[in-house]
Amino acid sequence: MRLDKFLCDVQLGTRSQVKDCIKKGNVSVNGCIIKNPDYKLDENADSVFYMGKRVTYQSFYYYMLHKPMNVVTATKDSHDTTVMDLLPDARGKNLFPVGRLDKDTEGLLLITNDGELAHNLLSPKKHVEKTYYAECSGTIDAARIHMLETGVDIGDEEPTSPAKVRLISQSDCTYTIELTITEGRFHQVKRMVQAVGGSVTYLKRLSMGGLSLDSDLSKGAYRPLTENEITQLKSNI
Ligand code: URA
Repeated sequence: MRLDKFLCDVQLGTRSQVKDCIKKGNVSVNGCIIKNPDYKLDENADSVFYMGKRVTYQSFYYYMLHKPMNVVTATKDSHDTTVMDLLPDARGKNLFPVGRLDKDTEGLLLITNDGELAHNLLSPKKHVEKTYYAECSGTIDAARIHMLETGVDIGDEEPTSPAKVRLISQSDCTYTIELTITEGRFHQVKRMVQAVGGSVTYLKRLSMGGLSLDSDLSKGAYRPLTENEITQLKSNI
């Protein structure tokens, strides 16, 4: 790989910025200052220092996005803004969203190019927990909570798998719950609430496989996952 591409890939600047930096003598490979941006290196074996700091090559990228409403979970769309439009850093890295949130659902969305991790997180066999905050209209009681917890008929071949329910608040005809499910069926939360006679009026995903939405991340904002978060996610599958 070319040295300037390597430095761009690890997000140290644009191609012209990193070329400039290389020409100024700020980059060394295996202890030698390299001033040629076209220098070929082995990204997995060579030791690269940039301004005195070791740079390691990352081939997988992991971002958490706070998906806002009215944005579709797709890589391309001719009408709507997509989640990928919100990540200018995504270009050229083959990133994709892990799973799908409805257009009107907000909250945690993982964006990566790690196909194996995505596959495992979405595999029904892995039972990865996803927790949603749901504001609902209708009534909730112990019997309905029990139904959600044990599995409800949402019109599919099989009833839903056991879920965890935490009742946050309730009034005469509205209630708020946190629902943790281990499947990812189409409109699952909305259909589960419908199955107990209610309707979801607002839905937000709070966590997935031990990864929680960063409360400092405003709607539409994103950030790379920390090493700890990546380790945590991988340890859950
Ligand atoms: N369940 C839903 O109904 N919608 C979502 O976006 C996610 C889970």
